[in-house]
Amino acid sequence: MTAARQSAAKRIRELRETINEHNYRYYVLDAPRIPDAEYDRLYRELQRLEAAHPELVTPDSPTQRVGGQPAAEFPTVRHAVPMLSIRTETDTGAGGAGNFDARVRRELGLTAADPPVQYAVELKFDGLAISLRYEHGLLTRAATRGDGEVGEDVTLNVRTIRQIPLRLRSRGPPALLEVRGEVYMRRDAFERLNARQREEGGKTFVNPRNAAAGAVRQLNPATTAQRPLSFFAYGVGETHGWPKAPATHGELLDALQRFGVPVCDERAVVEGAEGLVAFYRDVGARRDRLPFDIDGVVYKVNSLELQRQLGFVTREPRWAVAHKYPAQEQLTRILDIEVQVGRTGKLTPVARLEPVFVGGVTISNATLHNEDFIRAMGARIGDTVIVRRAGDVIPEVVAVLAERRPGDAREFVMPTVCPVCGSEAVREQGEVDVRCSGGLFCPAQRKQAILHFASRRAIDIEGLGEKLVDQLVDSERVRFLPDLYTLTVAELAGLDRMGEKSARNLFDALERSKQTTLARFIYSLGIRHVGEATARDLALHFGKLDAVMAAAEEQLAEVPDVGPVVAASIHRFFAQAHNREVVAKLRKRGVHWTEGEAERTARESLAGKTFVLTGTLSSMTREEATERLQALGAKVAGSVSKKTSYVVVGADPGSKAARAAELGIPALDEAALANMLAGRD
Ligand code: IVH
Repeated sequence: MTAARQSAAKRIRELRETINEHNYRYYVLDAPRIPDAEYDRLYRELQRLEAAHPELVTPDSPTQRVGGQPAAEFPTVRHAVPMLSIRTETDTGAGGAGNFDARVRRELGLTAADPPVQYAVELKFDGLAISLRYEHGLLTRAATRGDGEVGEDVTLNVRTIRQIPLRLRSRGPPALLEVRGEVYMRRDAFERLNARQREEGGKTFVNPRNAAAGAVRQLNPATTAQRPLSFFAYGVGETHGWPKAPATHGELLDALQRFGVPVCDERAVVEGAEGLVAFYRDVGARRDRLPFDIDGVVYKVNSLELQRQLGFVTREPRWAVAHKYPAQEQLTRILDIEVQVGRTGKLTPVARLEPVFVGGVTISNATLHNEDFIRAMGARIGDTVIVRRAGDVIPEVVAVLAERRPGDAREFVMPTVCPVCGSEAVREQGEVDVRCSGGLFCPAQRKQAILHFASRRAIDIEGLGEKLVDQLVDSERVRFLPDLYTLTVAELAGLDRMGEKSARNLFDALERSKQTTLARFIYSLGIRHVGEATARDLALHFGKLDAVMAAAEEQLAEVPDVGPVVAASIHRFFAQAHNREVVAKLRKRGVHWTEGEAERTARESLAGKTFVLTGTLSSMTREEATERLQALGAKVAGSVSKKTSYVVVGADPGSKAARAAELGIPALDEAALANMLAGRD
């Protein structure tokens, strides 16, 4: 062996050991010790060395997880020790645990005088059973359960699951160790996967179990590698040559954990029926907060010797039982599909369901998100569907049983007008949601519209927050925006948590807000797609509100940065009589601004000036400063050049400040900037 090759071999060994250690900390302990970038660097170094020395590549190298060609089918595997199933207790009360303990005691010939039996208790994971074969510590085969006797060889797929060690962490592993456990998918990973599938127009999965099972049985390992799978061990199959064989199930799981195999920490050793019931209740109360689905807990006689004595009946061990929780999926029927209007005007179709008990609560509604979702699902009114409620995820329709569709099932049609206010409901190009266009008028959006109107960057009514708006709208005192300007001090003082003084302050703030600018006023109307910048551009371009209101779509589209979608939205807004009425009433009640040329000059006081910002400002964000400078006609640039007029220097400035000083460009501190923005220079 050459010296170069020897040193490469040594480095490769080191890298594999380090990477395996980090994999273990990251995937099994969930406690990474190095940043991802550092891990990537090590991984790439190993890849480079292995590419230069292909003869040094071994199957347990961390670079060799994804490999092999797509298969036409999976080879079969005969399990030397069959993969059994377990009896299920469906009595979801304490009875389930009591039955099992009584049976075990009877079969062991114990009497009331004997001490309680010790049980290992664990979760019943909802995934796919897998057997992992380790020979002298090396993962040589992974197989599905199949019919319990004969399964499928899914080694190439299982090797892509980062949590599963390719080599056990042990200097003296058993000569043969078959680890039995469950491949599953975490809920967050499942949600992300489905979101991605939806985005890419692929098929979504009904639940994490189906997603996990489907991923393991992919014929192309590269596809499996893309699916975020996890694994928990819960037992063993064939073993031999185990230097310190465990005596109890608890010890067995501890040993597997020491080998670097993931074992769930939610496990315990308890005594007697009471211990079982306590575990069942404790886990049941926390079930929704677990990061993965379970459908129950599993009780196992802890002593492996007693397990042998108890033996099996047909295909089920007498020493174990699964104790189920109420199901998180149920069949029910869509009675109707109604449309709800949210605070922001979004129309959401909601399925009215025949009430059904699922995941511990009775459900009679489930969101159907939008019309595309309904179409993709193929759901009709009258259909039988699977609803799912797991964790704190809101109830969802996850599948339609088309074969049970009744003859009178009806297709859902999205309304073209808002069901709350009758305004036009619009689905814009490239969007999935349909929205009500009656923002100012629609009762569903009233609170949102007022809060937006009152916000600091809009008309700016200091002190008018959510709680007050709730009271004003709920009491019907404010039905539409102009009502705000008819409120009296006495009325305001009558609201909850309002003293005479704060009522007076709010009244004054309302009065002050009447003096505004055209740009602010346009922005405050909450026209869809019209943010501050667009409002400013409209004010500058048209000069007068009447001109904006009268403009045709083509004229609106002449404004810089206003495209056809925005132009259509503005036009639609002012085309509606009730919106024009709100505008007229607001003006009648005293809201005013300077129109025409004066506005234009005031607005353009910084025209032709270029600013560069550096460091942190304390009274506003950089984005705000940028917008406000632009509002006055200034340009804001990212880097200093000879063309820069001013550099604004905040705390901890970057190199831009130094560069500006070199070029002799005047620097402004925050106070000077504030003066300039306020027109006091
Ligand atoms: S023990 C001999 N423990 O449930 C006992 N099984 O019917 C073998 N399962 O598909 C099974 N969590 O994959 C056991 N903590 C757990 C389990 C568990 C889930 C699955 C298993 C099998 C089914 C048993």
